[in-house]
Amino acid sequence: MSIKFNAKHLNGFVRDEEFAAIYPQVELAHQMLESKTGPGNDFLGWTDLPVAYDKEEFARIKAAAARIRSDSDVLVVIGIGGSYLGARAVIEAVKGAMYNCTVQDGPQIFFAGNSISPAYLQDILDCCRGKRVSVNIISKSGTTTEPALAFRVFKKYLEDTVGVEEARRRIYATTDRARGTLKQLADAEGWETFVVPDDVGGRYSVLTAVGLLPIACAGCDIDALMKGAADAMAEYSVLSPDNACYRYAAARNILYRKGKAVELMACYEPNFTMMNEWYKQLYGESEGKDQKGLMPTSVVFSTDLHSMGQFVQDGARIMFETVVDIKKPTRDLFIERSADNFDGLDFLADQNMSVVNHKALEGTVLAHTDGGVPNILLELDSLSEYDLGGLIYFFERACAVSGYLLGVNPFDQPGVESYKKNMFALLGKPGYEDRKAELEAKLAD
Ligand code: PA5
Repeated sequence: MSIKFNAKHLNGFVRDEEFAAIYPQVELAHQMLESKTGPGNDFLGWTDLPVAYDKEEFARIKAAAARIRSDSDVLVVIGIGGSYLGARAVIEAVKGAMYNCTVQDGPQIFFAGNSISPAYLQDILDCCRGKRVSVNIISKSGTTTEPALAFRVFKKYLEDTVGVEEARRRIYATTDRARGTLKQLADAEGWETFVVPDDVGGRYSVLTAVGLLPIACAGCDIDALMKGAADAMAEYSVLSPDNACYRYAAARNILYRKGKAVELMACYEPNFTMMNEWYKQLYGESEGKDQKGLMPTSVVFSTDLHSMGQFVQDGARIMFETVVDIKKPTRDLFIERSADNFDGLDFLADQNMSVVNHKALEGTVLAHTDGGVPNILLELDSLSEYDLGGLIYFFERACAVSGYLLGVNPFDQPGVESYKKNMFALLGKPGYEDRKAELEAKLAD
């Protein structure tokens, strides 16, 4: 595994002594993880998942993916938050954000149930018409409103178009092992089911069936993904001042304590956009509590240098950047010399475009550090399944340690309930009558 923590561009912002000073706290966080004695220790199933996963289920995931790839033109994956982001992130990083336009040997994959937008849902339905469709409903609780609503629509769509029996064959449910409405429904209807383990929270679940089934359906190599994660687990579970994962967690907290409360995750690869979204959920839900936390934000450069670049260079000095530097592009493009240099760009010619992209990265890192923004570089070989598996584990473990350094429980999310209670009350869900009156009075003010 080869994720390199490059601290060169922290010079002038973080001193070696500061890493030394925080290290005892890193040791403590490591011990809390290993001995399962920290807050949220019921949710540490992800720590050894890359080696301790259910092998029988893994084989069933592969078999189901092979079936879906052969009998479906479209797979609709229904889920939200941790039951959505990881799968989409890996598929787009490996296969490209244009996957649905370029795919030739498997189903198009659309993600539903991640909003309450009727227009978005109607558009996906339009993409399904006349095609052979399968559905993977993913919800650990089985009760989350957004996916439940979308599933109601797609279940009916399937039953109306292929009949109840065939619909049963085409619905795959990923949910709790034993509890919840979705599990009961799946058992009653005879849908094939996959498990979200009890001790793995939604945002840590990409390496369970939650992520693995859609990822395998896209034709990604899930053995390589797990191998990358397993190698990362072996490397980053070792307590050492040189552990790149722990150094990243430490650097974030050192910078936070110096007033850099915003982390800007930057990548020079648009196919990484959804990985940014996955990272934002992982860190946002894990750390943003008790009125504390680093705010995770993201950009894709050079695209966003033309929108956010001004602020990063010259705006409020509240942030640091973490740049994911991908060494080998998935595809390259050779820039040819033009006969008459009509655009004056021949100085870029006779080389691969990835070289130009990397010079943009280097130039930007220097400009932003000159502008007072500390830059962490995380160097990754490629966006292969193996390297992504490693990166996922790296970020998960760093997040847990970082949360413990902050003094929060990185594995709960009490804050996400508030909007749900208000929404249910305003929609008249039984049991929410008092709250409804209270909220409507506030809205009327
Ligand atoms: O990380 C989390 O726990 C959340 O983002 C959940 O994944 C999300 O709310 C979806 O929950 P569920 O899988 O129960 O539908």
